[in-house]
Amino acid sequence: MTLFRGTFLDTPDDPFTGGRLRTEQDGALLVRDGVIRARGSFADLHRQHPQEDIVDLSGGFVLPGFVDTHVHFPQVRVIGGLGMPLLDWLDRTALPEEARLADRAYAEGVATDFVRGLVGAGTTTALVFGSHFAPAVDTVFAEAARVGLRITSGLVVSDRLIREDLFTDPDRAREESLALAARWHGVGRARYAVTPRFSLSCTDDLLAACADVLQTVPGAMLTSHVNENIREIETVEALFGCDYVTSYDRHGLVGPGTVLAHNVHPTDPELALLAARGAAVAHCPSSNAALGSGLFPLARHRANGVRVAMGSDVGAGTGFSLLKEGLSAYVAQQLLGEAGHPLTPTHLLHLATRAGAEALGLGSAVGDFSVGRRFDAQWIKPAPSTPLDVGLTHATDPGDALAKMFALGTPADVHRVWIEGDPITAPDPHLVG
Ligand code: GUN
Ligand code: ZN
Repeated sequence: MTLFRGTFLDTPDDPFTGGRLRTEQDGALLVRDGVIRARGSFADLHRQHPQEDIVDLSGGFVLPGFVDTHVHFPQVRVIGGLGMPLLDWLDRTALPEEARLADRAYAEGVATDFVRGLVGAGTTTALVFGSHFAPAVDTVFAEAARVGLRITSGLVVSDRLIREDLFTDPDRAREESLALAARWHGVGRARYAVTPRFSLSCTDDLLAACADVLQTVPGAMLTSHVNENIREIETVEALFGCDYVTSYDRHGLVGPGTVLAHNVHPTDPELALLAARGAAVAHCPSSNAALGSGLFPLARHRANGVRVAMGSDVGAGTGFSLLKEGLSAYVAQQLLGEAGHPLTPTHLLHLATRAGAEALGLGSAVGDFSVGRRFDAQWIKPAPSTPLDVGLTHATDPGDALAKMFALGTPADVHRVWIEGDPITAPDPHLVG
């Protein structure tokens, strides 16, 4: 067993319904086989377990590993394509790069860059939008398995209105998806996600094939996009003759295992439907700002009882860090004025950890430092004399320190990462083993 010593912050209880930031200052977590067996003050736990190895993480703060509920593996190399709305950005920036993943060797390089980006930002669990090419999807599952990252991913499918070299057809989609799920679903930390790109690029026949796969693979998730951009929404409504959420729901694709990204412009009936189905929404604020998609109506999601977690939406999103996404989420709500939902640092941490774990159906395994959870963690420890170091040194309390982490923190401040008790040393050179 190992005794991890440090200052631990987490959010086991939902701050949207009164939960508070939990702080264990000079605390300890006792970890065996990757699972937290006991927690308390270091003095008490060390007295009770004097023989155990101690890993000293004093200085800085230990947070649960982040849970990114929406991130695109093929887009890591095109982050930063600014100045375009969604459909132009897809045509000019994202999809030309996604077409390059037809080459498996190219995809392998992208998978390495991608997994390194996630882990380096303190993300230990992710729902990953895969590639349109099955061999490329194998590369991201393989790289995540090699590093130990907990991912849920799958084949992205489309059969209309985007570039044709990314098209499939319903039979091929069914066959390739089931083959990928057979290779990866439930293997180690991997799970399968059925992934229609967005209903704009999918015929009803293709969405029906997605439903077949979802029913055939027990425990598979469903992920896609919804209500991101006004032009996109108008096109979907013209194609399907119904609202965006219903275009998925008609095929049985909206349920407790569904995560839909963005939902910047939902109608009230759509929010009610998402809540009734128990589906979750991935809030991707840096992407929403970069593409000019709009300001996320968080208060309306909460009022309707729709579950919300955070997504980086790399590569429309401007980086892997959920610290940056948390700050962007806060800013978006501020900009909404009276219609915004005020967010504290505790809300931001909850959205980036516990809420994500619950959205992915992994709430009993990860998302906080309660006894029984896997030890997925990140040690935030900035370099001496940097603005974050100065801020943490002078923080008035742990909540203030957390605010400083969201305001100033970057992947460079993520000093070390563990997944299920194991330190992640490779492939990121800045992570200290
Ligand atoms: N809608 C369909 N595909 C995408 C994508 O790759 N990124 C974003 N932000 N929205 C999408
Ligand atoms: Zn996306």
